[in-house]
Amino acid sequence: MVDKRFHLAWFMNFTPDEWREPFGQGGNPWDGQFYIEMAQAMERACFDLIMIEDKLMVPETFGGSRDLSLKHAMMVPKADPAPLAVAMGMATKHLGVVATLSTMAYPPFMLARLCSTIDSLTKGRFGWNVVTSAEDLMAKNFGMDKLPPREDRYAMAEEYLEVCDKLFNSWEPDAVVLDRANGIYADGSKVHTIDHDGTYYKVRGPLNTVPSPQRRPVYLQAGASPRGRDFAARYADAIVSVANGVEGMKAFRADIRARAVALGRDPDEIKVFFCITPSLGETEEEARARFDRVTLSDNFVNDVLISISAITEIDFAQFDLDQPLPEKLVTNGESGTLDKFQQWGSGKTLRQLAAAGGGGLVSSLELIGTPSQVAQKMGEAMEEVGGDGFLITTPVLRVSRRYITEICDGLVPELQRRGLTRTEYKHQLLRDNLREF
Ligand SMILES: Cc1cc2nc3c(=O)[nH]c(=O)nc-3n(C[C@H](O)[C@H](O)[C@H](O)COP(=O)(O)O)c2cc1C
Repeated sequence: MVDKRFHLAWFMNFTPDEWREPFGQGGNPWDGQFYIEMAQAMERACFDLIMIEDKLMVPETFGGSRDLSLKHAMMVPKADPAPLAVAMGMATKHLGVVATLSTMAYPPFMLARLCSTIDSLTKGRFGWNVVTSAEDLMAKNFGMDKLPPREDRYAMAEEYLEVCDKLFNSWEPDAVVLDRANGIYADGSKVHTIDHDGTYYKVRGPLNTVPSPQRRPVYLQAGASPRGRDFAARYADAIVSVANGVEGMKAFRADIRARAVALGRDPDEIKVFFCITPSLGETEEEARARFDRVTLSDNFVNDVLISISAITEIDFAQFDLDQPLPEKLVTNGESGTLDKFQQWGSGKTLRQLAAAGGGGLVSSLELIGTPSQVAQKMGEAMEEVGGDGFLITTPVLRVSRRYITEICDGLVPELQRRGLTRTEYKHQLLRDNLREF
């Protein structure tokens, strides 16, 4: 029988839940409990992993100040993903937990040590979403006046990963002896300095943690530019992407696989996850009405504009909401997201673009309907694309317990009944679960 299965992952962040909405949790998730329970729901539904987004600044681009971001709790407050990944990992047994950590923020030694520690704490279920950051405001928190250009950030990130790999391998696999009788914990002849002295980093090593179950975390990446795609094809175990429809998904995956082959990698080692934001209801009409009610609201339009302003550092408050954008915009930040958002040439007003963000900005497909209709469409799309999985999220990443339940107890059982997604975990390590199919 043909294995039609694809992987499921969820993309969220450590920010307030849908605090303003009738089914929200009130906006106080800081003890982690709400998200721990979310991770447990994901595990019940046999998701491969949950991935925590991150940014390292208080946005102040929209309207030229912090006020609106803070008022709407949009992209701020945002707590550190690493401790949450640990908490979620320790409250589950099989689910992969992935934290976003920026190469522009951590010295590589600290990052390698953190990843190694979390991978041990989660018994081999940790992943690192490798990002190079996108904002000058972030750079100002780390001793820089502005962020280096994209090309330089990727050049730095390549050397960064080289350093991390050397650190993860600075202990030979059998360096830990743990021989109680002879009083030997580790064999010094099997733990080595790395003596890295490169263009951007100088690190002596060795790492001071034992090799973790996966040795290195699973690497996730989201490169969209040609340089970013090469970077991802070279290093990533999984790639997350927002594509335009089935054709866009198919083209993106084929491009990544071709780049991987050109770099001498087995393309099946890389799983491409496409972002989607399913909107569910008891009937298609109900799902559509709920979707429209959310995305046409002033709050939603504001949230999308604050968010797109923050990650592109373009102040969208300067443009008339009821006119098309005056010119094609460019950014040194998240350019792919900007291009998807501005739909240049479509003639849509800014308000329409923001509303379209509900279904398009972070969604590769329009998925509005009953669980059965959405499952059907996901299955057809994946078959056409050829694999590998979907990354479920919401337009501005906010979640409610109700939405989590709709996905985990409505949509996923439909997918499982069709033989499209996992019904059990076969392996202990996240990397092995990703490579199972
Ligand atoms: C699904 C998805 C998740 C992302 N998560 C983050 C994140 O948490 N933090 C971040 O700084 N950038 C994040 N990014 C941005 C990417 O890391 C990257 O900067 C962006 O895709 C642009 O890549 P490019 O410069 O190669 O075009 C994400 C992108 C996508 C598509």
